[in-house]
Amino acid sequence: MHQTANSVSNHHPKQLSFSDNAMVDNPYLFYHQLRETSPVYQMQQGRWLISRYANAVSLLNSPQCDHWGQNLRDMSRLHPTEAALAQCLQVLAPNHAVPFRQAVHSVVARALNEQATAMTHRADALLQSLRDRPHIDAMADYAHPFTFGSISQVIGVPEADISALSEVVGRLQGNYLSCVSAENQENLLQGDGQVFVDYLHRLLEEKRRAPQTDLISQLIQVAEHADPDVMSEAGLINLLILLFYAGHQNMMNFIGNALLALFQHPDSCTALRQDPALMDKAIIELLRFDSPVQYILLIAREAITLRSQVIAPGEEILIGVGAANRDPEVFENPDQLDIHRRPTQHLAFGAGIFRCIGAQLAQRQGGIALSRFLAHITDFQVADEPLRWRTTPMVQRGLYALPLAGLNYG
Ligand code: HEM
Repeated sequence: MHQTANSVSNHHPKQLSFSDNAMVDNPYLFYHQLRETSPVYQMQQGRWLISRYANAVSLLNSPQCDHWGQNLRDMSRLHPTEAALAQCLQVLAPNHAVPFRQAVHSVVARALNEQATAMTHRADALLQSLRDRPHIDAMADYAHPFTFGSISQVIGVPEADISALSEVVGRLQGNYLSCVSAENQENLLQGDGQVFVDYLHRLLEEKRRAPQTDLISQLIQVAEHADPDVMSEAGLINLLILLFYAGHQNMMNFIGNALLALFQHPDSCTALRQDPALMDKAIIELLRFDSPVQYILLIAREAITLRSQVIAPGEEILIGVGAANRDPEVFENPDQLDIHRRPTQHLAFGAGIFRCIGAQLAQRQGGIALSRFLAHITDFQVADEPLRWRTTPMVQRGLYALPLAGLNYG
């Protein structure tokens, strides 16, 4: 059953919780209320949630804030695995002394040109293999293998290994971060997490023996020229895990959210089928409309006064990407998917110097995934059963499954 705006007004903002089912199913109703009544809102756990676009952009660009990980100064309070993850993000920061970010940038830029055809073939092969199945799960059967395969190719996993690795990682259910291991800590991984990490160790060895032009070979080269204190072997594995996560999980969720939005807006879907040249604009709008990353975590470096609220130094600030992307002060009629909308400065990839490294690749890949899907599947319905949204990690918005029925293959 659909919620109305009224059903939300019963929730006092103080009660807002990320595990509340109504919030998980449709956070946008809550965001509207927050933007109007408490745009700088302190949650029960003490974190601040920012829901207006103008405040979100200014904080993302503000020297008064640290980006969690990328330029976090105080790691002393972090759990060892969180610290290992923050270290990975730190080496990817724009002004880090060792040029890991540049290596990622240049491989990703090359992939845009060189791998678009391979991505199209990957999408076609997957869709061809589904042909004539009356029901599919668009997440498990398409979004997952397509996006995992595509990022694996960029990273440098040999094609012959991708399918088996995709199954292993699929069973992790997005829990990549459990595979990140802290320096000098016994690795407590088991099962599929261990299989994944063991594979990455073997891949590193293989690429050291026979380097290629892929991302992993470039990262090895950058690491070899760096101080071993900057990048240990465990650190390199963690960095690879982070890159798989960034390139796979967000992309996969995007495709699921976009297919759902197109189903819910049949006019847009028809327009895209009739004029595939609209796809580039549509991707930008779909990213705004239901952003796969809903929150970016910042830490206040100093006291920040915003709309009469005082955020104390060290306090956590969640930039509400999904909320800002539906701010009526910036986006006219924000709850409407409008693929003809003039391209907007949405915040789905963040903003400023820490903006997503893979943004262009993501848009190209998203365009390929959706246009091939619409070319192969000429009609589809979302099955009439409740949709389940993932709740971990809470920064993401993505479906566990997107069951489709009434499929018509062209
Ligand atoms: C629709 C897909 C994607 C979305 C919505 C997305 C979104 C984001 C966001 C919001 C950030 C954080 C920016 C910040 O901290 O201010 C980020 C960072 C990053 N993204 Fe993406 N991204 C996507 C796809 C990709 C792809 C395909 C890659 C492939 C290389 C990638 C690589 C990265 C990396 C390396 C970072 C920096 C590390 C981090 O802060 O997590 N992303 N992305």
